[in-house]
Amino acid sequence: MATSELAGKHLVLGLTGGIACYKIAELTRLLTKAGATVQVAMTEAATQFITPVTMQALSGRPVYTSQWDARIANNMPHIDLSREADAIVIAPASTDFLAKLAHGMADDLLSTLCIARDCPLLVVPAMNRQMWQNPATQRNVAQLRADGVLVLGPDSGAQACGEVGDGRMLEPEATYEAIASFFQPKVLAGRRVLITAGPTFEPLDPVRGITNRSSGKMGFALARAAQQAGADVRLIAGPVALETPWGVYREDVQTAQQMHDAVMQAVADCDIFIAVAAVADWRVDHVSEHKIKKTADRKMPSFTFVENPDILAAVAKLPHAPFCVGFAAESGDLDVHGEEKRVRKNVPLLIGNLGPQTFGRDDNEVALFEAGGVTKLPRADKTTLAQTLVGEIARRLPDTSLIS
Ligand code: CTP
Repeated sequence: MATSELAGKHLVLGLTGGIACYKIAELTRLLTKAGATVQVAMTEAATQFITPVTMQALSGRPVYTSQWDARIANNMPHIDLSREADAIVIAPASTDFLAKLAHGMADDLLSTLCIARDCPLLVVPAMNRQMWQNPATQRNVAQLRADGVLVLGPDSGAQACGEVGDGRMLEPEATYEAIASFFQPKVLAGRRVLITAGPTFEPLDPVRGITNRSSGKMGFALARAAQQAGADVRLIAGPVALETPWGVYREDVQTAQQMHDAVMQAVADCDIFIAVAAVADWRVDHVSEHKIKKTADRKMPSFTFVENPDILAAVAKLPHAPFCVGFAAESGDLDVHGEEKRVRKNVPLLIGNLGPQTFGRDDNEVALFEAGGVTKLPRADKTTLAQTLVGEIARRLPDTSLIS
């Protein structure tokens, strides 16, 4: 997550009564860390689960629980607190509160704030599975969706009551991701995006192999940004130690050949192919079945290499090729190699950077190579850069009629 991802966003975070209130401490920390201002309002029931003092310390702002709070100058907290808000987020949203919202009831500060709002409303339900499955709750949730309320979750799994099923509140990180995603423009709505990321690993024997220093961070950041932009994203990853971005379908592979096969399997269903992976150019033609041992005469092992398939070039050659985007990490002469590589791979857009210096780092500086020339983008953290690149890719798609 970029530290400034939600800079300038003002959120009203409403807590209602439920054990999942403990998750809101962490959610508040994530939101404020991303630059959002968070105004907390709590129902009376929520204060039984987490104290206003805790929420005030984490949000850095006074917490409101009563409609009659005299700290608001005009004594209209239900209007004033949401006046500047970009969204109201109710988390956790209890069964009772969802029912109140669905029926337009306004008998406490938080419900009145919701009905008097002039901004989007997001709810993050949290309850026991039977409460969630109850037809009344399902009716209320359907009504809220029909009213334009965004319902995030719930999750499925073990519950505080000891039962297992639907109704658990999304984890704080997933809730954060859903909120951050809500604020991104949906420039790839309806698009299916296939991304390769990370290094590949070419085995020499059962314990050794050849790989490279790609961390996968740029490819994963692009997968997250494309998902946030409304795309259906499939990520094919080499060996990396990274969490799968929220809402992204991930497939893990090891070798270039496996990556090639996985891409070829999926490519027919995609509109955009972004090849970010640092694919090994060669593999050994014979992988030893057993660990290669040192010999008594100290003779060095020797290997014969064969070329791996060029995944990007192969996709670009397909009769109904998706919009192809390549990446190139060069150690020098980017201006020359970038355009040469774009033409050689026959892709409309190639994103170039001075690779070895950026591997594993959290920021990057890239240039866009295309038939019309080169555009340099300013250095930025990989999250922000990925969001910018998604916008740049969306603008270049051949059929813009699908883009909002
Ligand atoms: N690529 C690929 N399959 C390969 C090699 C590269 O799909 N076997 C893709 C990369 O994912 C990237 C682009 O091609 O999008 C450029 O990768 P790079 O390694 O820079 O290109 P190479 O063709 O390997 O060129 P060279 O090693 O000569 O610089």
